[in-house]
Amino acid sequence: MSYQKLEQIEGEALKHFQQAQNSKELYDQKVRFLGKSGSLTEVMKEMGHLSKEEKPFFGKKVNETKQKLEQAYVDAEEKLKRREIEDRMHQEELDMTLPATHAPAGGPHPVYSVMEEIFTIMSRLGYSLRTGPLVERDYYNFEALNIPQNHPARDMQDTFFIDESHVLRTHTSPIQIHSLESEAPPLRIIGTGSVFRCDSDISHLPHFHQIEGMCVDRKVSMADLKGTITFFVSEFFGPGLKTRFRPSFFPFTEPSAEVDCQCPLCKGKGCSLCKQSGWIEIGGAGLINPKVFEFAKINYPDWQGFAFGFGLERMAIIKYGIEDIRLLPENDIRFLRQMSL
Ligand code: PHE
Repeated sequence: MSYQKLEQIEGEALKHFQQAQNSKELYDQKVRFLGKSGSLTEVMKEMGHLSKEEKPFFGKKVNETKQKLEQAYVDAEEKLKRREIEDRMHQEELDMTLPATHAPAGGPHPVYSVMEEIFTIMSRLGYSLRTGPLVERDYYNFEALNIPQNHPARDMQDTFFIDESHVLRTHTSPIQIHSLESEAPPLRIIGTGSVFRCDSDISHLPHFHQIEGMCVDRKVSMADLKGTITFFVSEFFGPGLKTRFRPSFFPFTEPSAEVDCQCPLCKGKGCSLCKQSGWIEIGGAGLINPKVFEFAKINYPDWQGFAFGFGLERMAIIKYGIEDIRLLPENDIRFLRQMSL
């Protein structure tokens, strides 16, 4: 009697598991046959009426049925899930072959790329990076660089004044003084960052960036400076470009030079970028004026040095052939996208 019932339950349960249309229906069937008050549990209760000899055989059979049904449930559930996913894919018309939509990605600003590249080149010559404050004491921006109050050289750099004794730094040269004051020579440093001048036209920005180089050692000459800059120019703009020094004046260097490099665009033949001259000015340089060493309390001529300062925006427009320097700070996304390719 009970064996028959067991077989009947098994047959019915398998049939219903097979026929369930979704996970919910299937689960209801599981409860109906295998649950706490399900049919199989009911059969087990009847075991009480069986004789001692019959009980183990019947018990074993019940367990087998239970295991079989549990496995059938798992199989049916997996089949249903797979079918549900397939149905959803059909309904949603998901086209797995469509290209993904790209999240907008940023890229380095050309001025930043130039800065990094210069730093990488100079670090190969043993230079390491320094920074300094954007709001400088008058002393660091002018005085200690041998530009005394009321000196006409202050007119070279139209200054934004914060108050009587503080300015927005007009160049990165104050970094030289900070380094000379706080570190012991020999020194090879690169200083970089924002500088400010009240000046604005096609080739001048009120806020731009400079890179400063300073080398202090026992014996330093103009030849060392020229060699360093020539190496730097050919690494940065490409091999074979010549550099030339034109006599100039900076209160913090003596002698001083304006540094030109052969136009990287026309290789010196003459084009609109170099205004047909074949040469492009990239910055100023010179041997550190003994007066500067005096301010920084460093013994000259035991220690000597050279320094140079280049405009990063200028380097960027020359390297990438950008026509108007004002495109750089404008941050027009169409321009920046072209530059970060
Ligand atoms: N500080 C100078 C400028 O801004 C450039 C410079 C740096 C010149 C170092 C000589 C030495 O024009």
